[in-house]
Amino acid sequence: MIYMETCRVEDNRGVGGEYRILVLRSEQIAGSVLPGQFVHVRIPRRNDLVLRRPFSVFRVRNGCMEIFYKVVGAGTRVLAETRRHAALSVLGPLGRAFPDADPDAEPVLVAGGYGAAALYMVAEACRRRGTVLLGGASAGDILLGTEFESLGWRVEVATEDGSLGLKGRVTDLLDALIARRPGEHFEFFACGPEGMLRAVARRAMQKGVRAWLSFDRRMGCGVGACLACVLDVRDEGGRRRRVRVCREGPVFEAGTIVWEEDPGDD
Ligand SMILES: Cc1cc2nc3c(=O)[nH]c(=O)nc-3n(C[C@H](O)[C@H](O)[C@H](O)COP(=O)(O)OP(=O)(O)OC[C@H]3O[C@@H](n4cnc5c(N)ncnc54)[C@H](O)[C@@H]3O)c2cc1C
Ligand code: FES
Repeated sequence: MIYMETCRVEDNRGVGGEYRILVLRSEQIAGSVLPGQFVHVRIPRRNDLVLRRPFSVFRVRNGCMEIFYKVVGAGTRVLAETRRHAALSVLGPLGRAFPDADPDAEPVLVAGGYGAAALYMVAEACRRRGTVLLGGASAGDILLGTEFESLGWRVEVATEDGSLGLKGRVTDLLDALIARRPGEHFEFFACGPEGMLRAVARRAMQKGVRAWLSFDRRMGCGVGACLACVLDVRDEGGRRRRVRVCREGPVFEAGTIVWEEDPGDD
């Protein structure tokens, strides 16, 4: 069931750099959202910003849902200025959630930047704790490490500028993990930029690992009507078809994705 809910802002705090946490009192959406689903938020006070903005639900606590967001443009700037007690129109929960983790596999969560927010509820739901790999451009883009550790997950970090953890990409951490534990039966859950998802998918295919990818596409309607968010996949019969990230996704099994560009050396 999808709700259109008016949610009170309980908190909207900066957590370093351009990142913020928005806490929304919610009865309907918070009570039914699953790991990996998202909400579509109407930007208040700005009639020129007609399109809602999509955000993963980071977590649900004390009758509130929390959104972990980065201020990147006009809509998120307005959100950042939204004060406590303001009312926001929120549509959700939307999209297809991550599936339950395979109890026989070691779960590995792979996050690029704010992709960590989409994976936190997966980390809460997995009965078996595994490893979280966090990547970002710089130390300030490594998010929620302490929160994942508090849930009992091992956390490893890579930054492109070397300011925290390994100097390199999050997929370098993934390569090292796979190399350290050659016989391990892994399952990957990933959210981040599309290049990162493609690199995770490539490793999963090479190693015969099941991988679930959450795509962060630009969206229009968020409910399957406008086709702004389409992606090509192959169905079980090998036929190529277009799916909507907002309806059939945002989570897809890596093996079904048709990648447009040559992955090259990723
Ligand atoms: C399913 C889903 C879940 C998401 N979850 C989160 C989340 O948990 N936290 C978070 O911070 N953001 C998340 N996003 C991205 C978020 O929706 C955008 O950052 C937001 O809509 C930007 O709005 P804006 O008006 O501030 O930026 P705009 O003014 O619209 O754009 C500013 C810049 O951001 C880029 N941009 C805008 N939207 C996206 C997008 N969807 N993906 C990549 N680049 C984009 C634009 O190309 C432009 O360069 C998610 C997106 C999707 C589709
Ligand atoms: S955003 Fe409109 S169909 Fe997906």
